[in-house]
Amino acid sequence: MPGELSPTERLLRACRGEPVDRPPVWLMRQAGRYLPEYRRVREGVSFLEMCRDVERAVEVSLQPLRLVGTEAVILFSDIFVPVVGMGVDLDFRPGPVVAEPIRRREQVEALRVPDPRDSVPFVLEILRRLRRELAAEQVPLLGFSGAPFTLAAYLVEGRRGKEFEEVRQLVHRGSEVLRGLLERLVELVVGYLRAQVEAGAQVVQLFDTWAGLLGRDEYREWVLPLHQRIAKALDRDRAPLILYVKGGAHLVDLMAESGADVISLDWRVELADAARSVGGRVSLQGNLDPCALAAPPERIAAAVRALAAAGRPARGHVLNLGHGCLPDTPVEGVRAFTAAARALGAER
Ligand code: CP3
Repeated sequence: MPGELSPTERLLRACRGEPVDRPPVWLMRQAGRYLPEYRRVREGVSFLEMCRDVERAVEVSLQPLRLVGTEAVILFSDIFVPVVGMGVDLDFRPGPVVAEPIRRREQVEALRVPDPRDSVPFVLEILRRLRRELAAEQVPLLGFSGAPFTLAAYLVEGRRGKEFEEVRQLVHRGSEVLRGLLERLVELVVGYLRAQVEAGAQVVQLFDTWAGLLGRDEYREWVLPLHQRIAKALDRDRAPLILYVKGGAHLVDLMAESGADVISLDWRVELADAARSVGGRVSLQGNLDPCALAAPPERIAAAVRALAAAGRPARGHVLNLGHGCLPDTPVEGVRAFTAAARALGAER
């Protein structure tokens, strides 16, 4: 076992399945409305304006490091930010709402796949600034992108559908419009993630939040090949890839074939089972229910110890939630989570 690792080495080694002193810890949506300091920076500007404002985005990206003790920083942005550059008119209220849902071939053909340096220069600047800020303390920087299926689900429905029935109907009808849309989005995602790595992201996470709504056959046919193409197109020696699917308990073995270095699981998956079944091939991330952060600190600490033990058979484990922090997540609960993770090293 190596001695004291820097936070960057710890995360990269866990992603690659190399020995670590203890699992690294960060939280999905660790910068957000549950922090009063976030709400203060967000005052008076729209969410999209904040994503484009390099100063504010850098500030809120860094907030969780000091305020809640996380060990990695994730770019502050949203999975829909690069979609605006394709020519889609969308707004956040607070979730994404698309002015004209994409249902017709002409709409797909009209979508541009712009160079991220032209369409989202601010995202790349935020990453460059963050990487410089984090260099001294050797804290790792994560970039991210939405995955084609999840982006497409919102683009065809126009807003969050409860169970995204429309996109699922398109899947079962073998829609050429959906196929065309997914193709454009694969191109977008590959270019976007490559540019993020170029700008300083050391790990990248692909959010396919809603792919878990599909059955195994549909996931295998419509989604897995896209994940595989994205994984192949990226230089993962330079930046490991994490794949997140919500509600993907029935897909874990297929996700492990995606080519991603790490599979990020939601709270409904038994981590110990996943560690035994696919943990030899891929590292795992997760998977505490964000609602568990409302429990007293001792219970959170016990849950972290149980997760760490469950994840031990896997080649690597990154401690995280099973989904993002919620607007009403108690700050104290987030602190208890990271503190318990850091304490794991001392107990060994
Ligand atoms: O993890 C992070 O801290 C990085 C930033 C990040 C945000 N959204 C910030 C955000 C990331 C990685 C996302 C991903 C995202 N966005 C996903 C995939 C993962 C997931 O959480 O399911 C999806 C489906 C979206 C779309 C989206 N954006 C929704 C549904 C919402 C509203 C939900 C909510 O929290 O109200 C957003 C808005 C959004 N994205 C906020 C933040 C901090 C809230 C914006 C605000 O301040 O009003």
